[in-house]
Amino acid sequence: MDAQPYSQGVAAYAALFPRPEHELAALCAAFGPGQGRCVVDLGAGLGVSALGLGRAGWQVLAVEPDAEMAASLSTRLALEPGPPVPVAVMPRSAPLPDALADAVLCQSVLHLLPPAEQHALLTEAARLLRPGGCLWIEAPFASPLREPVPWGCVGTRDLGLTRVEHHRCMEPDPTAGPEAWATTWRFEVWQGGRLLHEVSRRFAWVPLHTQALARATRAAGLHGLTVWADWSARTPFDPALAPYGYARCHRPTP
Ligand SMILES: C[S@@+](CC[C@H](N)C(=O)[O-])C[C@H]1O[C@@H](n2cnc3c(N)ncnc32)[C@H](O)[C@@H]1O
Repeated sequence: MDAQPYSQGVAAYAALFPRPEHELAALCAAFGPGQGRCVVDLGAGLGVSALGLGRAGWQVLAVEPDAEMAASLSTRLALEPGPPVPVAVMPRSAPLPDALADAVLCQSVLHLLPPAEQHALLTEAARLLRPGGCLWIEAPFASPLREPVPWGCVGTRDLGLTRVEHHRCMEPDPTAGPEAWATTWRFEVWQGGRLLHEVSRRFAWVPLHTQALARATRAAGLHGLTVWADWSARTPFDPALAPYGYARCHRPTP
């Protein structure tokens, strides 16, 4: 991950196209009011969830290995109006103590990692959780419903005389493995009908399998994996009905 940064020049553009508000609202409702409790956001990215949880009263430790993503989040925090939001941005090398977190969030990260790095991340989550604390996972799961998404413009932002367009496609990537997919982002900067600049990034990933994730979380010392089709943990995940899953498991109490 450190050898090949996640963002590679796209972080500042990606920050112009935030995740939909309803996703954040569902996540914050699932977590409940923080009341000063601590959550570690592993792979916080641009920090949309970290900010939302911080505003909801959680003390958020936003761990982000990609310097460009981390810088974008720090800038965003500095520009927040009103009282400071309790979000601390830190690299993966930050020495966090054992058992400091009431919850750990791992949102849209695991499917990007090879198995050995998934194991390392789950083991780190288990170490950071206090006994009884909960790991929340969001990821694409294996599902026959997943379809390639052809190139299309998924958002535009006008910035004075300049317009930024976000284009995206998603396709199977058999060269990376039988189940591998790739998502490609392309940002275009336009002015007066002229393309001034473009930058793109391809993200390779493999959807998760419920049974494999159950084994991987147990191997990391986490118990009771349940996979749901929504953050509110109301609808059990069924690969025939949903391509994304939201999972919970916990560090057992002694
Ligand atoms: C798809 S982004 C998700 C960001 C954010 N969690 C969200 O849901 O919007 C994946 C993030 O995981 C980070 N990441 C990749 N490998 C990681 C690792 N081993 N540990 C922690 N974060 C990692 C990347 O730098 C990137 O910011």
